[in-house]
Amino acid sequence: MEHLIELRDIYKIYQMGDTAVHALDGVSLTVDEGEFVAIVGQSGSGKSTAMNIIGCLDVPTSGTYHLGGVDVSTMDDDQQAEIRNKMLGFIFQQYNLIPKLNVLENVELPLLYAGLSASERRERAMASLQRVGLADKCKNLPSQLSGGQQQRVSIARALAGNPSVILADEPTGALDSRTGREVLSFLQKLNAEGDTVVLITHDNSIAVKAKRIVRLQDGRVIYDGDARDPQAVVQPEEDVGAELDGEVLDA
Ligand SMILES: Nc1ncnc2c1ncn2[C@@H]1O[C@H](COP(=O)(O)OP(=O)(O)OP(=O)(O)O)[C@@H](O)[C@H]1O
Ligand SMILES: [Mg+2]
Repeated sequence: MEHLIELRDIYKIYQMGDTAVHALDGVSLTVDEGEFVAIVGQSGSGKSTAMNIIGCLDVPTSGTYHLGGVDVSTMDDDQQAEIRNKMLGFIFQQYNLIPKLNVLENVELPLLYAGLSASERRERAMASLQRVGLADKCKNLPSQLSGGQQQRVSIARALAGNPSVILADEPTGALDSRTGREVLSFLQKLNAEGDTVVLITHDNSIAVKAKRIVRLQDGRVIYDGDARDPQAVVQPEEDVGAELDGEVLDA
């Protein structure tokens, strides 16, 4: 069977003077339609690098990446932009909404780049806002919404283009824990409705809400499996000490 996402032996190497930094050091990973995968790992483990490659924002130094059966690992910028528009919906930590545009216009914007007519854009954007429960706020400016609502607008924007994959990079990072949980249960709902979700987070309590966890360390996959397996949230050793310290302080 063809995988929706297939990374095969991906390396991303940055040359820094005399040293070569292996941001990704031989990553192989597949994601199928309908999955909800959390990519986790400590700071510097390669999460953003992986996200940029999966999101067709960057190309690997070596290895191949197939998205929807198409080899995207050697595409130029224009080809990447086209496939991004067609296949991917992005959700960022900082929402990236345009302050001067109202909610509806923000959601319509990517559809403009996709070349849809004005009426199609309106229809799709409204349907998308309905899905996130914000149709009644469509005339508001982003500044007239709460943080959680702004993140839901950015989710509506990601959904409007009918993407094959929703890529969320620390989507709860800027939210308080309650609003963060709301956004997360929202992603779970989308996944239950059939959407494929790839979530990047450094937070285990967020990651366990996914169905599957992929843990990176030093640019390598050190765990890939069921999110409910206790092994999924085992921290690399250097972290255990830090966590124990925290507990002692809390006590
Ligand atoms: N443009 C770059 N040039 C040189 N080194 C880089 C570059 N981008 C990333 N790196 C290095 O690659 C490694 C992985 O970085 P990456 O940003 O993917 O980590 P991360 O898991 O997203 O971390 P964080 O949780 O802090 O966001 C790090 O060692 C980083 O210093
Ligand atoms: Mg990062």
